[in-house]
Amino acid sequence: AVPIAKIITIDGPSAVGKGTMAKRLASELGYHLLDSGALYRLVAVNALQQRLDPNIASDAEKAVQNLHVEFDDDKVYLNGTDVTTKIREENVSKAASQIAVHASVRRALFAFMQAFVKLPGIVADGRDMGTVVFPHADVKLFLTAVTAVRAERRYKQLSKHAKNVTLDAVFSELVDRDARDSTRDEAPLIPAEDAVVIDTSVDTEAQVYEKIMQTVRLGGILP
Ligand code: DC
Repeated sequence: AVPIAKIITIDGPSAVGKGTMAKRLASELGYHLLDSGALYRLVAVNALQQRLDPNIASDAEKAVQNLHVEFDDDKVYLNGTDVTTKIREENVSKAASQIAVHASVRRALFAFMQAFVKLPGIVADGRDMGTVVFPHADVKLFLTAVTAVRAERRYKQLSKHAKNVTLDAVFSELVDRDARDSTRDEAPLIPAEDAVVIDTSVDTEAQVYEKIMQTVRLGGILP
């Protein structure tokens, strides 16, 4: 039989731990990692660099059109410049969530993401991986956690590099972003009907990973 690439999706709100879990899972299974949020972040950086407004549909469309992206190991380049750390900045997080609202942007990235599927399989993390982009995924996970816990985690992460961040600001940015990502018309953040929902509010990273591995094994994928 012709081998078919396996697809595992991990969706959920920001700062829930999707990125960490997806990376670890992909590495343990020997799968390719599709960080879909990074793609929206790249479109956002492209927009900001060209002084385009991520809230305006026609600007967003321009930003996704002339996009030259290169991935090299753990680094990502936009139009020849290393933007690996830049795409994680708070203003980019906000702009990514704003630009992700537009249908033209989602359509362009949809094609890219479907073309990314390769053997032996992929782990895709984002907001709509299990609902819109890979509705036929082999295993679908949805991570949740209460906002206070996610804000605390994001704050700890950010304050390692930036000195002028406050927990309050991080909290309200997170609430804004969640609201925008969850209420938009196009592919809003929502668990797929067949997704396994895992709450990461109290569990340790190791416990969450064990639950994910259990679900993956039940889905017939063996490490
Ligand atoms: O996962 P992240 O924080 O890197 O994503 C940044 C933004 O990109 C997020 O706020 C909304 C958007 N996004 C999306 O709309 N769909 C995805 N599958 C992934 C991200």
